[in-house]
Amino acid sequence: MSDNATKQFYDRISHAYDMIADGGEHVAREKGLALLNVQPGEAVLEIGYGTGHSLVALIEAVGEKGSVSGIDISSGMKEVSENRLRDAGYPDRANLLVNSAPPLPFPDHSFDTVVMSFTLELFPLDTIPALLTECRRVLKPTGRLGVTSMATVESGDKKSVLEKTYIWMHTHFPHIVDCQPIPLEDLVQKAGFKLLQQERIDLFTMPVAIVVAQPE
Ligand SMILES: C[S@@+](CC[C@H](N)C(=O)[O-])C[C@H]1O[C@@H](n2cnc3c(N)ncnc32)[C@H](O)[C@@H]1O
Repeated sequence: MSDNATKQFYDRISHAYDMIADGGEHVAREKGLALLNVQPGEAVLEIGYGTGHSLVALIEAVGEKGSVSGIDISSGMKEVSENRLRDAGYPDRANLLVNSAPPLPFPDHSFDTVVMSFTLELFPLDTIPALLTECRRVLKPTGRLGVTSMATVESGDKKSVLEKTYIWMHTHFPHIVDCQPIPLEDLVQKAGFKLLQQERIDLFTMPVAIVVAQPE
């Protein structure tokens, strides 16, 4: 989908997103954050912050001395996130941009952690390396990247019917199914990261991969 179509799609569903997707995804998203283990005082960037659940958790993890920034293509998602942050008692604690990534509009080595959940798999396969290269650029040399995404099956395992359906739908109806399972561990390593932690869990028979990685 074009940037404009993506923006319109997420603007349209922003107020219903949690009802549509969060029931299943929240377990994996929270597991990803637990593995990343963000520390007090860190500077964190979330790409594709969506309805802002992780932003609240990240603000609590970094504390008063840390900072949380976010970038998302959808102004509708920004509005939902801002409402959530206000309700949680954290108005103005996150620097939320509405922009399409890549590129990431931040100087080199700005962040201790960059986090994404259910976002990297939305990008075309030939754009993912550029986005991961941007993540490496904005991370400090000792920083950590934490990604949770729908994943292709590990070699040797058979694709589930659901995964085949997702790929077919994404190929033929990308405006309805905008994501596709990706070989997350390979993509992250090929972009110049070393894996510090990796885990796989099942979401309704679909594999979800979680990685924590560091620039090589
Ligand atoms: C599937 S949602 C996931 C939201 C959130 N991370 C979660 O786990 O609930 C993907 C998010 O990525 C955003 N997004 C999609 N394409 C983008 C792009 N090119 N640049 C920035 N954000 C994008 C969407 O607006 C949406 O909020």
